[in-house]
Order: sequence, then structure tokens, then C-alpha cells
Amino acid sequence: MKRIAILISGRGSNMAALIAACERERWPAEVVAVLSDREGAAGLERARASGVTTEVVARSAFDSRESFDAALAARIDHYRADLVALAGFMRVLGDDLVERLGPRLVNIHPSLLPAFPGLHTHRRALEAGVRVHGATVHFVTAQLDRGPIIAQAAVAVHAGDTESSLAARVLAAEHRLYPLALRWLVEDRVRIDGTRVSVQGIGPADQLLWHHR
Ligand code: GAR
Repeated sequence: MKRIAILISGRGSNMAALIAACERERWPAEVVAVLSDREGAAGLERARASGVTTEVVARSAFDSRESFDAALAARIDHYRADLVALAGFMRVLGDDLVERLGPRLVNIHPSLLPAFPGLHTHRRALEAGVRVHGATVHFVTAQLDRGPIIAQAAVAVHAGDTESSLAARVLAAEHRLYPLALRWLVEDRVRIDGTRVSVQGIGPADQLLWHHR
């Protein structure tokens, strides 16, 4: 059984999708903890309702990123997490922690990376006039939003889309994409070859999900 820790900062809808898929599909895995850097994260209540242990490591309780990262690392160690899934975790982790976790650390980002790293991805996609947008699950490396890409979900940008209509379409795609990709990791099927990632048992085309809606 793989032990999964999920890190959140807010709503936790991706977290909920991961917890649900793990149970429903009977992954050989368990979500052992949901950790939040914010006391008031709505996802904490959702996690508890699913019977998952939650903990807050409040960024505000530490006077430096290093001490915050060290505290977070200690909790991840405590739970003996084999996989650490960032799911709407809105803090940049320091290089030491990223290096320490290595390929156990993955993230979901709401754009087709390397387009639109950072914040406000949907607004920026609309401003750029792209016709296709989406989400990316990737390994986390020291370079923000630049780690090897495990899987991507593509959605069309519709005429008349607003930031919120586009965000909703991408979020629905995220809820399919993240469980798919995390399951591959749980099953030890993911290989990193430089900047490229392959998944045993499927072809590269299956690492791209088209989300029609
Ligand atoms: C998701 O869209 C996720 O991709 C994004 O935050 C949202 C969290 O929603 N993550 C980032 O922007 C990371 N830089 P959720 O809390 O409902 O899963």
C-alpha cells in the first residue's frame, strides 16, 4: 500500500477527487493525511468528512520559509508518505524540500505548461487568445511549474468564455486528470527520462486527455 499525503491551501476539490478515486477504484494506496498551510482551508472539513486525518502547518506560525518547510517536511516524514500530491497548495516550496522529496512530489497546475506558469492562468489564457487551454500534472522541481510533465488535459476555449466559465471547464478536467495520473504513480508505472515521462502499459497519446464540454 502506497501512502499518499495531499497538501492543500483552499477549497480542496482536487483533493476530494483524489480521495474518492482512491476509494472507489480500490487503489493499492491510502490517503494518510491532508495537510494545509491555512487554518481556514475549506478542504480540511471535506477531508475530515471522508475520514482522512488532517493537519494544519500554518505558514503564519513560522518566521521564514526555511522553518516552515522544515516543519512541513517533519510532518510528511511522520506520515511516511510515499507520494506527496500538491492540490491547490499555493506556496512555493524551497529547493531543499523539493530535492528531499524528489519524484515523490507532484503538482497539478491549471494550464497547459509550459504556457502560463504562476497565477491567474485562465485570465492570461483568455488574454492571449489561445483556443486550447487545460491542466498539467507534473513532477515538482526547483524551477517553478517546470518539472517533467506526467499528463495533461486539454479543453477548448469557447467564444464568450469568461475567466470563471473557463476555470470551471478546466477544473472539471482536473478532477479527471489528477486521479488518472496519481494512480499511475501508485502503480509504479511512471518513468522519467530527462524531461520526458512515460507510463508503462499505455502510449504517449494516453498521457493527454481531451476534455469535451
Ligand atoms: C486548481 O485549479 C489547481 O490546479 C490550482 O488551484 C486550484 C485549486 O482548486 N493550483 C494552482 O494554481 C497551483 N499553482 P481546489 O482547491 O478546488 O483543488
